[in-house]
Amino acid sequence: MYILGIESSCDETAAAIVKDGRELVSNVIATSVAEQALYGGVVPEIASRRHAEYISATVEKALSDANLTLDQLDGIAVTFAPGLIGAVLVGVNFAKGLAYAAKKPLIPVHHLRGHIAALYLTHPELKPPFLCLVASGGHSHIVQVTDYTHFKVLGRTVDDAAGEAFDKVARTLGLGYPGGPAVSKAAKQGNPNAYKLPVPRVEGRYDVSFSGLKTAVLNAVNKAEMKGEPISVPDMAASFEYRIDEILANKLLLAAQDTGAKTICLAGGVAANGLLRSLVNEGAQKLGAKLCLPELQFCGDNGAMIAAQGFYELQSGNTADMSLNGLPTLPIDYNNPQ
Ligand code: KG4
Ligand code: ZN
Repeated sequence: MYILGIESSCDETAAAIVKDGRELVSNVIATSVAEQALYGGVVPEIASRRHAEYISATVEKALSDANLTLDQLDGIAVTFAPGLIGAVLVGVNFAKGLAYAAKKPLIPVHHLRGHIAALYLTHPELKPPFLCLVASGGHSHIVQVTDYTHFKVLGRTVDDAAGEAFDKVARTLGLGYPGGPAVSKAAKQGNPNAYKLPVPRVEGRYDVSFSGLKTAVLNAVNKAEMKGEPISVPDMAASFEYRIDEILANKLLLAAQDTGAKTICLAGGVAANGLLRSLVNEGAQKLGAKLCLPELQFCGDNGAMIAAQGFYELQSGNTADMSLNGLPTLPIDYNNPQ
C-alpha cells in the first residue's frame, strides 16, 4: 500500500512516499531554514509563503522519484495539527485538492504521531507498546505508545520545549539558528562541568521545565559581560547541553523504570542530539530495555514520517472529508477513549 505524506507545519515543505508504513520509496524536502536563520528563528509568514511556492514541485518530485502516478497511491496523508497555522493550512489545502481530484482517501496526521512513526522506517521490527520521548522545537512529551493510533502522555514540559531551549540558548550565545546542532557543535570543544546550571524543580514526576535553565544561561552571560569577562561559549554550550540532556534522559528512564517499559525510543528534532542518544543508551542498558533511535535523516520534519503514520491511521479508519481543517494545537491522544 503506497501512502503519500505531506508535511508543512514549520519551515520544511516535505513530501514522501512510503510503502506499507515501513519502506521508504521517495523523500523530498524543501526548506526555508537558511532564510529563517537571517531572522534568528522561524518567521511564520515567510514559512507559509515558501510552502505555497514549494509544495507543488515537492509533491511532484516525490511522485516522480518513486516512479508512481497519483492513481497508484492508496491514500494522501497530511499534517493537520499542531503547528504554525498558516503553514499547516498550505499542506492541508494542497492535500485536500489532491485527494479530491484523484479520489483517494484523505488522511489527517498529528505531527507528533508522525515523529514517532519515523521510528517504523528505521526499525522494521518495532511495534507498540513502547515508551517514547518526543522532543522537538514545539513539544517535549514522554509518551506511552499503546498502539499505532493510541497514546498516553505521562509527562511534558511545563514551559519551553527542549528544541526551543536549544534555539534560545544558541541565540544568547550568538550561535545562530537552528540552535540544536549549533550548540552541539560548540559543545564539542567545551567542558560540561565548567558552569553549574540548575535542575529546575517540577511537580509532575515525569514533567520537565527548561525556562529556568535558559534564564540561568542568559543571566550568566549578562553578568560576565557586565564584569567585562565574557563567558566561554564552548564551555557554556557544553554545560547547557549536558544539563538539558541529563534532565530529558533521567525523566525518560524514570518513566521507563516505573512502567517496566521493555522498549524505549526517542523521536523529534532533538532526538538527533548525540549526547542525548548516548545518555539514554547507557540508561536503557542498565534497565535491560531495548533502545530504538530514529535515523538522523528522520529526526527533523519530513514527509516520510507522515506517510508512515498515515498508513496506520488509514488502517484504523481515521480518514477525513473535504471539511478537514488545520489546527495550531491538538493533544497527541485526541481520539483516545476518555
Ligand atoms: O522536530 P523538529 O524538526 O521540528 C519541530 O517539530 O519543531 O525539531 C526542531 C528542533 C529545533 O528546535 C532544533 O534546534 C532541534 O530540533 N534540534 C536539535 C538538534 N537538531 C535539531 N536539538 C538538539 N540537538 C540536535 N542535534
Ligand atoms: Zn517536528
